[in-house]
This record gives sequence, structure tokens and C-alpha cells, in this order.
Amino acid sequence: MEKVYGITPHGGQLINLEDYSATAQAEAAKLPSLTINAWNLSDLELIGIGGFSPLTGFMTSDDYHAVVNTMHLNNGVIWSVPITLPVSKAVAATIELNQKIALKTADGTIYGTLLVEDKYVPDKQLEAQNVYGTTEVAHPGVKRLFENGDVYLGGAVKLLKKPTHGDFADYYMAPIETRKMFHDLGWQTIVGFQTRNPIHRAHEYIQKLALENVDGLFLNPLVGETKADDIPADVRMESYKTILKYYYPTDRVRLVIYPAAMRYAGPKEAILHAIVRKNYGCTDFIVGRDHAGVGDYYGTYEAQELIATVEDEMDMHFFKFDNSFYCQKCGSMATSKTCPHDDADHVSLSGTKVRKMLSDGVVPPKEVSRPEVAQVLIDGLKRKREMEV
Ligand code: ADX
Repeated sequence: MEKVYGITPHGGQLINLEDYSATAQAEAAKLPSLTINAWNLSDLELIGIGGFSPLTGFMTSDDYHAVVNTMHLNNGVIWSVPITLPVSKAVAATIELNQKIALKTADGTIYGTLLVEDKYVPDKQLEAQNVYGTTEVAHPGVKRLFENGDVYLGGAVKLLKKPTHGDFADYYMAPIETRKMFHDLGWQTIVGFQTRNPIHRAHEYIQKLALENVDGLFLNPLVGETKADDIPADVRMESYKTILKYYYPTDRVRLVIYPAAMRYAGPKEAILHAIVRKNYGCTDFIVGRDHAGVGDYYGTYEAQELIATVEDEMDMHFFKFDNSFYCQKCGSMATSKTCPHDDADHVSLSGTKVRKMLSDGVVPPKEVSRPEVAQVLIDGLKRKREMEV
């Protein structure tokens, strides 16, 4: 067993279910198999590498109901979003309880195994309401939930092959490795930052405010599935490297991908995001305005309010930041806590508006986006469009 450095993992123990041996692959090849999608694969991977510690598999009905109803696992550990493996009724009927099955992707590659300990019909209405705060299918997370199969398989998994992560491979690390990296860097306090967007000035501002108080910043962009109108992960990765190069003290920042899908579950997902970053070794986590939100489904500070009620249980420190903007009168970034001026003096554009400008090839104001970052994004989005035709 490798040494686990740093903060106590969520639930007490860093889980590791990796087995990349040829024997394990050969054994799995003999099992009946189930085809999983990219979303399931990223969950399998995060369970396997310990990002989702203390989970050791896809949730059985006990944990599922406990999470949906009480925001805790059945053993009492706080957990906010069900991690499940949905299949259709027809597929579920072909799978026996206590059967071991191989989990493969559409191209036939086996990534893991599941010991089917439970097969159950979820209450999707309740899940949608309690986890996403809405049952409207206009919400991308709820839409996916209702499109998913109507039976969930639960049970212990093994990770038999690590997804490759293509161009991001150099920026991939497992929690056991990030913990060792922080230890080797001599960092005692590490702030985690979740994002599914390019880093704009407001992100930079809150990261640097946090960085004034801790040893290091763990920039951990989500690179799994996002909604179609979010900026693609490969374009974002280029923008992260650019902003770090020009505007950050690189010895105090580490960029590592978070290979998860985006659920857009707002406050509940903020807790999940923090749990995973704790498992990666972060002692601190940033929650700003409308964390993991989409549309108008959540209040601007709802994630912070929920977190305030569970901070003790989470056993990590949260930096909560107000909506940040550039104030022309202050001549700096600010929030309503630090700036006395009117809205008219503030430069702040919605994400949607900035994305539109970038895809139209228009450089947003430098008060919103660093020019070097804007250029990388404009070029990257243009390249994407050219590839599509
Ligand atoms: S998220 O869906 O990954 O949360 P985003 O990438 O926009 O979305 O946000 C990353 C983090 O920065 C979140 O904690 C979010 O609350 C915070 N944040 C984004 N924009 C602002 C802003 N203008 N002011 C303060 N915090 C912000």
C-alpha cells in the first residue's frame, strides 16, 4: 500500500480499486458484459481511483435512498449526489443478483467489473426534486436523469483499465498522486478550484484571494461531459495553460484535470465537488456565486448557504466569495463587500454573453477576460467550427 499523505480522506479511507493486471483483464473477458457510456465510465474511474472515497461501487438502494432523502450515505457519512449505474428494464432482466459483470464501452474495451449486489427501481421524481431542486426536464441534469434507464444496478466495482484522457494525459493524476505531490511541494494547505469554464477575471480574483491565505492552488477543471454550449474542455485546457503562464506564480499552482461529468446540481454538486477535492488532498475549497448552477434554478448563494450547514461534517475549510466584478471607479476587481460604487461602474458580463462574443471572434473587455486567454479561446472555438464542417 502506498502512503496516503495529507488531509483525512472523506469517510476516513482513500479507496483504491485499481487492478490493471493482465490476469484481471483475462478474467473479466470471460464474464457477461454491460456496455456503459462516457458518464458511467467517468463515475467508474472516480470510484476506482478513490476520487469518490469512501464509495467502493455504484450505490445500492440503501445508500441511494439515504443520499436522496438525507444527503448522507447509509453509514452516516455526508454525500450529496447519488452515484448510480442506470440500465433499461430489458437489460436489468438479463442480469442476476450476485453476478459479476464486465463493464465495457461501445468499442468493446473492458474498463472494470461490477458485482451486482442490488437491482432497484429509483424514484426519479424524488431524486430530481431532492438532488436538483426541480423536476423540470429543461434542466440538463434532470433531463439526463429521466432519459437514463429505469433500473439502477448497485455493487462493488474494480477498475481494470484507466481511461486514456487523450491530450489531457499529462494533466491527469489520481488522488494518491496529488496528495504525494502536495507533500513533496511542502504544501500543508491547498485550495481546490472547480470550474467548467475558462478562467475569467472573476475566477482569477477569487483564486488569488484564496491563494493569499494558503500554500497552493489546485486548479482542477472538470473535463468530462458538459452541456453542448459550454466551451469544450480541450479549448479550455489551452486557456488554463495560457493564463497560468502569464498571470500566476506557477510554483504555487498545479493544474490537474477532474475527469467527471457535469451534473449542474448547484448546491448539492458543490458538496460533491468539495468531497472529491478533499480526496485529492485539498484542505480548502472555493465556492463562489451560483456554483455548478444552470439557468435560474438556484439562488446565487444557495450553494454557500447549504455548505454553511455542513461545514463541520465536511471537515475542510470553505472560501465563500460574493459575486465578483471589475469596478471602473475602484480600478480593480471587487465585490459588493469591498466596493461602494454603483452597478453602472461595474464591468461584468454573463457567461452566455462572453461565450457568444468569443464564438463571434470578438475579444471581451480586458476587465472581463485576460486578452491572451480571450485570443486562445477565439482561436480554439474557430478551429472547432472548422473541424465540424
Ligand atoms: S461551475 O459550474 O464549475 O461552478 P464556473 O466555472 O463558472 O462554474 O465557476 C467556478 C467557480 O467560480 C465556482 O465556485 C463559482 O461559484 C465561482 N464563480 C464564477 N463566477 C464568479 C463570479 N463572477 N464571482 C464569484 N464567484 C464566481
